[in-house]
Amino acid sequence: MTAGSLRGKVVIVTGAGSGIGRAAAVAFAEAEARVLGVGRRKEPLDATAGLHQGIAVRSADITAEGVPDEIVGEAVRRWGRVDVLVNNAGATRVMPLAETTAAGIADLLTLNVTAPSLLSRAALPYLREAEGSIVNVSSTYGHRPLPGGAHYAASKAALEQLTRSWALELAPEGVRVNALAPGPTESEALAAAGLSPEALDAIKRDEEARVPLGRRGEPGEVAAWIVRLADPGSTWLTGQVLTVDGGLELT
Ligand SMILES: NC(=O)c1ccc[n+]([C@@H]2O[C@H](COP(=O)([O-])OP(=O)(O)OC[C@H]3O[C@@H](n4cnc5c(N)ncnc54)[C@H](OP(=O)(O)O)[C@@H]3O)[C@@H](O)[C@H]2O)c1
Repeated sequence: MTAGSLRGKVVIVTGAGSGIGRAAAVAFAEAEARVLGVGRRKEPLDATAGLHQGIAVRSADITAEGVPDEIVGEAVRRWGRVDVLVNNAGATRVMPLAETTAAGIADLLTLNVTAPSLLSRAALPYLREAEGSIVNVSSTYGHRPLPGGAHYAASKAALEQLTRSWALELAPEGVRVNALAPGPTESEALAAAGLSPEALDAIKRDEEARVPLGRRGEPGEVAAWIVRLADPGSTWLTGQVLTVDGGLELT
């Protein structure tokens, strides 16, 4: 990373109240960026804000009508610009084909695909002005099959294709778009998917056994690469999906 290249930059991070988003908010703040962290629950967001004075927070549901514009508006009101948008908020869902419902599909796509799209649209005029960048948080399963979670995998595959298409669409204006695809990482994601503690433990043990480096990742290990992709020093990098998963994708 170029020393000081994020100093004073304005970064929006969605899903900043826990897991990868919280770690990313802290990592950007430590790089001296001004961070607006977004999530629905106020308490965990306040805890994130308490970790670094460079982090401001806003409690909002990014899938609600008008909210993407409000979030970008708040960053602009506070600091007058937006340099980086990190589309990190997302959710997974166990949904085998036999149990697939229209509402289940709609929920996943609304959060994992539509909300990042509308946030990116809202931020676009400011990203153009700043020659800034977008980082979309995908998953190893954005480009690998996930039996029992096909629509989660499909939603992340969509996000990866948005990344490539926007990268080309926005390249003439100097806006870079990349994606980070984490493997199994410690966070609230599995609990938020409504799994029982027993099912959750079984999945974690299975993942640990399958990851070549022998363990699940820590949010900070993923966040460091989100910051790198966003860093204005990464001047010639666009349209890429970087997998950070302890080698899982190679198996
Ligand atoms: N952990 C993994 O193993 C893993 C692997 C691959 C990819 N990922 C991806 O990494 C990203 C971050 O997930 P994580 O693992 O850090 O899980 P997490 O701890 O569950 O974080 C997700 C965050 O998104 C926020 N969020 C959810 N719905 C929202 C909404 N409608 N509006 C605003 N915020 C919302 C949640 O906060 P509220 O509930 O308070 O809104 C939560 O803080 C996700 O896109 C996920 O798919 C994770």
